[in-house]
Amino acid sequence: MATVTEIAQDIYRINIEAPGSAVTYSFFVIKDELPTLVETGMNRMFDESLEAVKQLIDPSTLRYILVPHFEGDECGALNRFLELAPNAQPVCSPIGAATNMADFSIREPIAMEDGEILDTGQHRFECLVTPYVHTWDGMLPYEHTTGTQFCSDVFIQPGPGPATTDQAEIEGMLAMYKMIGIFPSRAHLDSALDKIEARNPKVLACHHGSVITGQIPAYLEAMRDEDIIGVTEWNPMRETKY
Ligand SMILES: [Fe+2]
Ligand SMILES: [Fe+2]
Repeated sequence: MATVTEIAQDIYRINIEAPGSAVTYSFFVIKDELPTLVETGMNRMFDESLEAVKQLIDPSTLRYILVPHFEGDECGALNRFLELAPNAQPVCSPIGAATNMADFSIREPIAMEDGEILDTGQHRFECLVTPYVHTWDGMLPYEHTTGTQFCSDVFIQPGPGPATTDQAEIEGMLAMYKMIGIFPSRAHLDSALDKIEARNPKVLACHHGSVITGQIPAYLEAMRDEDIIGVTEWNPMRETKY
C-alpha cells in the first residue's frame, strides 16, 4: 500500500515498500499549474502508484515527468503515465534524451542543460547535470521555491524508516553504499555534491529511504567517504530482489 506525505509546499512523496527489497521506493508529485512528477516508480508498481497519484491530482493533467536517470525504479512506468496524460513530456539530461529516452519514451523528451530552469507555476526546477552519478545520463533537479533537492540514488538509506527524518542516519547509508557499489567515480560524485552543497537545500527528497529535513551538511560530508566509490566486490543487489 503506497503512503502519501507532503514533504514541502505542494510536493508529495509517494512511497512503496517492495517485499524482499533492502530499500523502499519513492517518487514525487508536484501540485502546480503544470502538474509534475519526479520519477515514476517501476512499471510493475504502476497500479499502486496511480491510485496514490489520483489522491493528489488528475493524472491526465500531468505536464512534465522529470527522469533523473534511466532505470526501472526511476522511470519504468513513464509510458503508462504518458498514455494517460496527452500533454505530458519526459524531462531529462541531454545524454538521457539522446540515448534511452529518444528510443524508450512514447513522447519526445525535453533535454535540459546544466543550470537550465523549468517553471511549473509556483515551483522552479533547476537541472543539475550529474554524469555517472550513478549512471551516464544522470541529472538531479533542485526546486528553488521550497529548497528541495531531488537526489535520486544519492543519500540512500536502507529499510522502511519514517517518511521524513531530521536525524543523521549516516552509518546505514554508508554501509549500504559499500555493499551495492553504485558510484563509479569520486570526481563525478564530488562534482554533484558540490552542486548540491552550493544550493544549500532545506530538504533532500530521497528516492530510497526517508526524506531528509535536517543535518544535511552531515549527510553531504559523509558522501565524501572514499570507501563508497568503485566497489567491485560481491554485490548483494544481484541476489536481493530489486
Ligand atoms: Fe539508480
Ligand atoms: Fe534507485
